[in-house]
Amino acid sequence: MVDQNPIGIFDSGVGGLSIWREIVRQAPQEDTIYVADQAHVPYGGRSLEEVRQFSEAITCFLLDQGTKIIVIACNTASAAALYSLRRAFSSVPFVGMEPAVKPAVERSRSGVVAVIATEATFQGELFASLLERYAQDVEVITQICPGLVGAVEAGALDAPETERLLLDCLMPLVEARVDQLVLGCTHYPFLQPAIESLIGEGATVIDPAPAVARQTGRVLAQRGAEANRERVGRHVFFTSGDAPAFERAIDCLVPRSGERRDVREVHWRGPHLEARLALR
Ligand code: DGL
Repeated sequence: MVDQNPIGIFDSGVGGLSIWREIVRQAPQEDTIYVADQAHVPYGGRSLEEVRQFSEAITCFLLDQGTKIIVIACNTASAAALYSLRRAFSSVPFVGMEPAVKPAVERSRSGVVAVIATEATFQGELFASLLERYAQDVEVITQICPGLVGAVEAGALDAPETERLLLDCLMPLVEARVDQLVLGCTHYPFLQPAIESLIGEGATVIDPAPAVARQTGRVLAQRGAEANRERVGRHVFFTSGDAPAFERAIDCLVPRSGERRDVREVHWRGPHLEARLALR
């Protein structure tokens, strides 16, 4: 069986593109629809209830566009809404993000690992259950990095101010002899080269994107919902912010490699998300 409907992906902003690029790399035949809620970015300092409401509205929007699976390419939204979305839309497959505590603990030799993520991600039930399941004999340091999401949104990957933010966030981890560093926010993989050079060779950085893309592929295969492998996917991006700025950000963070991309605006009308032009 084949299913030509698109994969729905969302994040507060550009961060989920770190997941999108891996999904497209592993499954170039799939169409995707990506929503960046840039009207509300960053999500990380907001209440879980507010992020849950945004996530539910974005899910409704993506389902209206005919998506066959939804990838919550945002740790914060997954912490706030993964369980409730699965309950509310029980026939829809969701792939959520959870910080990669399990592989970090398995690989650690120093017995100290760290997760960098937003404040809201650490508050959710999802993170508490990860610690309970996997972090019995290893110390897991949780670190928030204020300002980093904004720096990635602004495209300031190499700015001196961004390096200063990274130093403040990472130096305590180096001092604590962390040997596994989990990127628990999908914006951070775009800073991975800078993170690796600051944290040094003693620590391995774990980006969950390849595993999330593999899981997406597995779920589609199990449901017989993969697209025909002969085709090349088409990609539509919606932002609740400014479409030309978002298009520049996408092209800068994930340079085109021949695939079709189309960038559009979507608007919040009260609690609902609406596109000006219908997609099909
Ligand atoms: N990229 C998101 C995450 O993985 C959201 C960050 C934010 O908006 O604060 O958590």
